[in-house]
Amino acid sequence: MLEFKDVTFKYAEDDFYMMKDLNFSVKKGEFVSLIGQSGCGKSTILRLINGLEKPEKGEILIDGKNINTLKDYCAFMPQKDLLFPWRTIEKNLCIPMEIKGVPKKDMHKKCVNVLEEVGLLDYIDKYPKDLSGGMKQRVSFARTILAGSDIMLLDEPFSALDSLTRMDMQEWLLKQWKHFGKTIIFITHDVEEAVFLSDAVYIIQDRPFKDMERVEIPEQYPKSREFLKRPDIVALREELIKKLRNRREEQ
Ligand SMILES: Nc1ncnc2c1ncn2[C@@H]1O[C@H](COP(=O)(O)OP(=O)(O)OP(=O)(O)O)[C@@H](O)[C@H]1O
Ligand SMILES: [Mg+2]
Repeated sequence: MLEFKDVTFKYAEDDFYMMKDLNFSVKKGEFVSLIGQSGCGKSTILRLINGLEKPEKGEILIDGKNINTLKDYCAFMPQKDLLFPWRTIEKNLCIPMEIKGVPKKDMHKKCVNVLEEVGLLDYIDKYPKDLSGGMKQRVSFARTILAGSDIMLLDEPFSALDSLTRMDMQEWLLKQWKHFGKTIIFITHDVEEAVFLSDAVYIIQDRPFKDMERVEIPEQYPKSREFLKRPDIVALREELIKKLRNRREEQ
């Protein structure tokens, strides 16, 4: 579904290339994580996918079409919830639909449905300050769903949460992913989080990077935290950490 073909990119201010002739692809409905040390270019990949940055060379395709010819093909959920404090939860959810010109009564129906799905219908008229960090992330996720795109780009959405809330949110996200059937590209610093959530993990190791190593994560359904205790999964996690740390020591 999503394909990078020989994508070369550097920021105008920088002297160095961030990626050169990068090729990788994500299948429809896949949950893929990107891991790599801070500053290696993870967020930049998402910025390229949603068109905020343009490749110097190469192309990014969705279902075989160049993204330059497409609209509304992906929805971005940033690390911070970015809810407007002066808007109620419903009004916050409406933002992408207002931009698209969805009729008012349809907007309300959609808000009710999605809040029911994420278990926050009781909060429809509340303000962001009335919600916990995890709840705000759920609203932010609901808003990303309402944007109606098939691809969701999630940039470290849980990094600001405490570890217990984070675990709840990871399990919750897996359920939502199964339910909505979206393709998810997820960025995290946390190798365990990547292993727990993903079908496959891409590792960014070199700079500039040409290829990202793709590591497949064995399937298990339903997934619980027991999955992380499986000996093969423990070994896989250690292997990924080693790859990331080796890279750091070389520098
Ligand atoms: N808008 C920009 N203009 C110029 N350089 C940028 C811009 N955004 C990021 N960079 C540089 O590009 C590099 C990669 O940034 P990016 O945000 O993609 O990294 P990251 O892997 O997401 O890092 P982190 O894990 O810390 O979020 C960094 O060296 C950063 O300074
Ligand atoms: Mg980043």
